[in-house]
Amino acid sequence: MKILGIETSCDETAAAVVEDGARILSNQIASQVEIHARYGGVVPEVASRQHILSIIPIIKQAMAEAGVSWSELSGIAVTVGPGLAGSLLVGVNAAKAIALAHGLPVIGVNHLEGHIYANWLDGQSIDFPVVCLIVSGGHSDLVLMRGHGDYVVLGRTRDDAAGEAFDKAARILELGYPGGPAIEQAARGGVATIQLPRAWLKGSSDFSFSGVKTALLRLVEAEKVSSVADGAASFQEAVVDVLVTKTLTLAKERRVRQILLAGGVAANELLRKRLVENSPVPVLVPKPVFCTDNAAMIAACGYYRLKSGKTNGLDLDVVPSLKLV
Ligand code: KG4
Ligand code: ZN
Repeated sequence: MKILGIETSCDETAAAVVEDGARILSNQIASQVEIHARYGGVVPEVASRQHILSIIPIIKQAMAEAGVSWSELSGIAVTVGPGLAGSLLVGVNAAKAIALAHGLPVIGVNHLEGHIYANWLDGQSIDFPVVCLIVSGGHSDLVLMRGHGDYVVLGRTRDDAAGEAFDKAARILELGYPGGPAIEQAARGGVATIQLPRAWLKGSSDFSFSGVKTALLRLVEAEKVSSVADGAASFQEAVVDVLVTKTLTLAKERRVRQILLAGGVAANELLRKRLVENSPVPVLVPKPVFCTDNAAMIAACGYYRLKSGKTNGLDLDVVPSLKLV
């Protein structure tokens, strides 16, 4: 089964064709990062206008790269939320128009579920139950997954998401946008010598990252940060320490077979390395290009929904504050 995936929840216009939920036939992304960089973050109105310009060319490129015709597709999977309403609308309406024109089923996909399904791409084999750590610009969730579409959210952030914290720390250190890759890059030249607090929230699998960010700000204001590189390395160390410790604790408690990493922050090398090195069970990590927003993960998730008969009608609408469960 070949599925066309469409993703427009934030600032990437993406389309991909994936076969049987794993084999990538094409993966196209039109990034708006340079457009938003001058504002230091995503401007929703600018993002939706840019999606309108990019969506048709990107879908055409994905179909051409895959070398498939509309009649060879089994369905169109599209992100319905969570995300920016105006951005989501562009993808959902494109998907519905194509579905209507070619008599194909449309499958609404939760963006967070899509991030998890990036782990199915390229044929990695998954053994349930698993614990998923989803760390993106808007979410830091620890989820127990017992089967396809079967989730229990066991922990989430009480304030900033991990990616949001990286973005804010980068702003404090004047490293620019997007913050995660900038912090990671700067940290390579530094040492984690600055003591920053960790919010362990004992007895809970929740996260909190606003304290570590404020602590960094206070130290920068007091000129107590030896160098930008050391500040970046220390911040990255503090965030990764909490993410890894809490994920491993939950994995042991729940006796899961694997740990899955997902979301933009999963592209972080230190996070990937620490989890892999310290986990008693196998850790699956998507390739960095499938950690950040892409449409292949949406197509992969759409395949499993279609297989279980969960398609939508042409009344499908966006749900900007959609939850995983
Ligand atoms: O999943 P994603 O592409 O979009 C959302 O759904 O939010 O995640 C974007 C977030 C941003 O906050 C970005 O700074 C962070 O992921 N990020 C990283 C890295 N690459 C992206 N954070 C840490 N290290 C990275 N290498
Ligand atoms: Zn995302």
